[in-house]
Amino acid sequence: MDVFEAIKTRRSTRRFKSEDVSEEQVEQLLQAAIMAPSGGNMQPWDFIIIRDEEQKKALAKAALGQRFITTAPVVIVVCANKPRTARRYGERGAELYSLQDTSAATQNILLAATAMGLAGCWVGAFNDEAVSNVLKLPKNIRPVVILPIGVPGESPRMPPRISLREIIHNEKW
Ligand SMILES: Cc1cc2nc3c(=O)[nH]c(=O)nc-3n(C[C@H](O)[C@H](O)[C@H](O)COP(=O)(O)O)c2cc1C
Repeated sequence: MDVFEAIKTRRSTRRFKSEDVSEEQVEQLLQAAIMAPSGGNMQPWDFIIIRDEEQKKALAKAALGQRFITTAPVVIVVCANKPRTARRYGERGAELYSLQDTSAATQNILLAATAMGLAGCWVGAFNDEAVSNVLKLPKNIRPVVILPIGVPGESPRMPPRISLREIIHNEKW
């Protein structure tokens, strides 16, 4: 699958088959994640891999009751390691680059998953403190995305996009 096909066919998927996602597949997804660009190549990302049912339930609760999270065989939580980029970039690194870099890594995971016949959903609606407690995150490590991943059990239609004509500005706003 070429990159354009992966971009076009990636869909937020909230229903999964019971098939497992292997350790090797998770490794492949994370190898794709760390190929993402990052400010000054500081790579301010850490990944928590969750397979335990109780941990998944606790995450779903922290994610405002999004129960579909528990139906994925594996959940990857992408975390921003703010000190790692703040070392060079100070507040801009901690508050902006760390989020941009982890978002780029997340999109790489989703595109790689698509190319591998897997799917996932970027879950951003959660209580930061609750997720940090569940995962025992150290101070200054911010959970950015909860990513349930599995073999897709549904084929969602693409939600409509705003047309390019409405959002392109030439030379000035
Ligand atoms: C920052 C961000 C936060 C999101 N949070 C959630 C979420 O909490 N729960 C959910 O089901 N989907 C969430 N989504 C997925 C969006 O609903 C989805 O990307 C959007 O509807 C477009 O659909 P598509 O991904 O299939 O193109 C989130 C996506 C992004 C980028």
